[in-house]
Amino acid sequence: MLAINYSAMKAHQKNIVILISGSGSNMLAIAKAAKNERWNEKFGTAVACVISNRADAEGLASAAALGIATQVLDHKQFESRAAFDAQLQLAIDNFEPALVVLAGFMRILTPSFVAHYAGRLVNIHPSLLPAFTGLNTHQRAIDAGCRVAGASVHLVTADLDHGPVLAQAVVPIVAGDSAESLAARVLSQEHRLYPRALRALLASR
Ligand code: GAR
Repeated sequence: MLAINYSAMKAHQKNIVILISGSGSNMLAIAKAAKNERWNEKFGTAVACVISNRADAEGLASAAALGIATQVLDHKQFESRAAFDAQLQLAIDNFEPALVVLAGFMRILTPSFVAHYAGRLVNIHPSLLPAFTGLNTHQRAIDAGCRVAGASVHLVTADLDHGPVLAQAVVPIVAGDSAESLAARVLSQEHRLYPRALRALLASR
């Protein structure tokens, strides 16, 4: 009789946990790339869980449709940022993740949470870092007269949007661009950039 030790298999798997707050289109691009490019065979990697801090995040249904486990941890149920982050850390650590991927996760993280995942916490930010950290990046790039904009994948450090840049995508800013038209152009590049950056990171480890 063949006995399979599933817990041992799980321990050897390099899990990815993805955190979202909204539409989850980057999460979907990563999950689809992982499946289509067989990251499981190539890197021993699986997207183990998608966690949202908002129950109404559209990305939860998309993840579930791909057969990925989902969880909701509503930050409004916690009395402090530290209490929320501590619970989030427990939820994530159940999967012993090799990578924790922020994909439109719109929360400022506590230094202790960031330190816990040092070197395995990755984010995508919709600007060419170090330019335009923070919010409203597209309107600020237009207002500043920039000719190009883009997105950056970076390791997360305690200094918001300032961690080492792993990869960037550049798009033109064209006459008549609005924040919305520019955001759409950048987002379509994010969907190529983020899987590519994660693939390179996994291949390097
Ligand atoms: C993306 O444009 C991402 O770069 C941005 O939120 C959007 C999420 O879209 N992230 C940030 O602004 C983080 N500071 P998605 O939910 O469809 O992936």
